This record gives sequence, C-alpha cells and structure tokens, in this order.
Amino acid sequence: MALYSEKVMDHFQNPRNVGKLDDADGIGEVGNAKCGDIMRMYIKVDDGIITDCKFNTFGCGSAIATSSMATELIKGKPLEDALKLSNQAVVEALDGLPAYKLHCSVLAEEAVRAAVKDYYDKHGIAYDPKDFPIHDCEGCQD
Ligand code: FES
Repeated sequence: MALYSEKVMDHFQNPRNVGKLDDADGIGEVGNAKCGDIMRMYIKVDDGIITDCKFNTFGCGSAIATSSMATELIKGKPLEDALKLSNQAVVEALDGLPAYKLHCSVLAEEAVRAAVKDYYDKHGIAYDPKDFPIHDCEGCQD
C-alpha cells in the first residue's frame, strides 16, 4: 500500500489556494518547534463568512497537503465552522496520513485557528479564550 493517499499527493503536488492575501482580514502564523516547519494562513471575512483564504507553508509535503485541504474546508464557511475544524477532519478529507505525520495536520488546524483569532483581535470581537488553547509543542509527541 502506498504511504500517502492519492489525495495527499494531489494536494502536495497541486496545492490549492497557495499565496498571500494582501488585504487579509486575519493572518495566522504557527510553527512546530521540533521540525521547524512554518505555516501562515490568510483569511478574508465578510459578514462572518470566510470568503477567501490562502496559505504559505514552509514545510514538509504533509504540511503543504494539510494546509491546502484546510483552505478548501473553510472557504465559504462561517468563522464558527472554521474554529471547529479539527486536524482529524483534515486528515480524513485527505484519506489519511501516516501516524508519524499527524503532527503536520495539527499545524493546519492551528493556523486556521490563529487566523480567526487574529481577525477577532483586529476587529475587537470578544471570544472565549478556551477556543484558542495554547499548544505546547515541547511536551507533546505531535
Ligand atoms: Fe513538520 Fe510535517 S514534518 S509539519
């Protein structure tokens, strides 16, 4: 069996929504201290809906594939839905990832969350801090 699904390979080789949004309403940047990979997510928001979304990932193929899929999953969706996007949902949409690559999908979930938080912060929108837990890379295996 191939190590990576066809969908992972497709999103790695033809990533969707790559780039930068110059007029982004929210920007989230996250990194993994262990592998050194960095992901930046840009969102454009209109009336609570993510109307556009782009990403830049300096990282492994799985990080690129998961960020690409994450943009596809949140584009056109309400901010609340984007906040609910889990790394498991991204992995499922990609038809799976090898266990030792699951941490790459965590980066995608966190990048989306960070972009939404940035949007809330910039627009003075109150939120529940519990929706934005601080991930402690030092202590985890992800
Ligand atoms: Fe760092 Fe994949 S190895 S995100």
